[in-house]
Amino acid sequence: MEKARRTAEQNLKLVDVVIELLDARAPLSSHNPVLDKIASKKPRLVVFNKADLADEKLTSYWLKKFSQDSPALAVDSKSRKGLPYIPGVVEKMARVRTGRPVKCMVLGIPNVGKSLFINALAKRKVARTGNKPGVTRGQQWIKVGKKVQLLDTPGILWPKFEDPEVGFRLAVIAAIKEEIYSVEDIVFGLIEWLNKYSPCVWEKRYGLYSSDTPVEIMEQVGRKRGFFLAGGKVDLNRAAVHILKEFREGKLGFFTLDDS
Ligand code: G4P
Repeated sequence: MEKARRTAEQNLKLVDVVIELLDARAPLSSHNPVLDKIASKKPRLVVFNKADLADEKLTSYWLKKFSQDSPALAVDSKSRKGLPYIPGVVEKMARVRTGRPVKCMVLGIPNVGKSLFINALAKRKVARTGNKPGVTRGQQWIKVGKKVQLLDTPGILWPKFEDPEVGFRLAVIAAIKEEIYSVEDIVFGLIEWLNKYSPCVWEKRYGLYSSDTPVEIMEQVGRKRGFFLAGGKVDLNRAAVHILKEFREGKLGFFTLDDS
């Protein structure tokens, strides 16, 4: 963790603009305040990635809020939607007067899409897998348009989740490792959250007609999908894993967990 932070701090010295990647489904929770300390002097572009999976209205709401402090925009690195604007915005933000290319780097928590974002901007596979500290080969600069260069190694910011609610949101969006939480507990919370904000998902996706307790919903989904243990009981763990996977893939709809 410390090593990743030090590497990020060293790389920050090389750049003119910082691109902070946030997850559009949880833009507040996926921000690590350490960046405000280590990159306080650099112009920062805030990019909400995975906007294709988020609630459009809340994306607009949060973009407005974030843009009070720094330029902010939303992208979908899978389809490249929004990416073509980035070089122009970065160029305008940089305080480079000499005509040399503007240098920038991407930072964000694990799984926010840093590698895909860099590869999609570069239009080829160049990003180092940043989640493995210890890779110490020299960095390379990737050309993005004519006047912008991007460091091929993204900086990793570790997710911060002293607040259990933030931890829950980060687990749902797969920003923290599954070894450190119980999938069933997270899905229990997710079902409660969906029951509050979008109770019709169960009918739409699984044909369930009543909004029941989380365990009943897990059981019904497991039954519908044929997840049974020896002896005929529903495999609740498999049902939970399935619900979480479908939520993350946007099959239950497009949601933003950080509400206004
Ligand atoms: P990281 O470097 O920050 O750790 O993240 P990485 O690029 O490895 O992306 C993590 C996962 O998020 C990948 O999915 C990637 O495809 C997906 N992803 C990244 N950006 C977007 C986006 O804008 N929209 C959507 N829908 N997905 C995005 P994966 O399941 O781990 O792998 P795969 O689907 O690429 O096989």
